[in-house]
Amino acid sequence: MTVTAARDARREARKAMRKVAAPVAVLTVSHEGRVHGTTVSTLVGVSPTELIIGVSLRSGSLLGGLAVAAGRFTVNLLSGGQGGLARWFADRDRPQGPAQFAGVPWTSAGGDGAPLIDGALAHLECRLVRSIPVADHELLLGEVVDAVAGTGDPLFSFAGDLCAGALRTVPGSGDGTRNSNHRNPMEGTTR
Ligand SMILES: Cc1cc2nc3c(=O)[nH]c(=O)nc-3n(C[C@H](O)[C@H](O)[C@H](O)COP(=O)(O)O)c2cc1C
Repeated sequence: MTVTAARDARREARKAMRKVAAPVAVLTVSHEGRVHGTTVSTLVGVSPTELIIGVSLRSGSLLGGLAVAAGRFTVNLLSGGQGGLARWFADRDRPQGPAQFAGVPWTSAGGDGAPLIDGALAHLECRLVRSIPVADHELLLGEVVDAVAGTGDPLFSFAGDLCAGALRTVPGSGDGTRNSNHRNPMEGTTR
């Protein structure tokens, strides 16, 4: 493969990865009086039975360092109306420490006092199980030790934008997304 072809392939791969619709969350941590929040869109449920989730953070991120030091982190899964918070906790120019939460309504998590942001779709308090370096990122694996699930619509990151709005349930799915009784593979397909 030529250098140009390899560059084109990587560009296409990056474009393809932007087609992954991903939930947006603010991770929070509180450790020895230091509090921090960071926007992420790499949240993944790793084991629903063992309640393990994963999230990928850029190596050297402040949140990652504090989470490792604290041995904990909290996930605030954002709802559709919280796009402003997603942008705020990704802004490099936001104030550091408690000042970044000024004007953000929140309560303290039971475990370590990390901020639980009001109006989030769900809160998941996690015990850090492992931190695995992967390329230029750090994959944090956490066991969910406490959680609250709310109601509402989620916030997504898709194709470089933040997206909100009611999701449309695919006809014939519901609780049956995993069963094999469906006979028509094109059922629910729209153009
Ligand atoms: C929608 C959105 C999703 C993001 N997802 C991630 C992510 O999954 N991992 C990451 O390291 N940074 C992500 N970022 C960038 C961080 O929020 C931002 O760089 C942050 O200020 C750096 O983290 P730190 O303050 O902990 O060092 C995302 C930003 C936005 C706007």
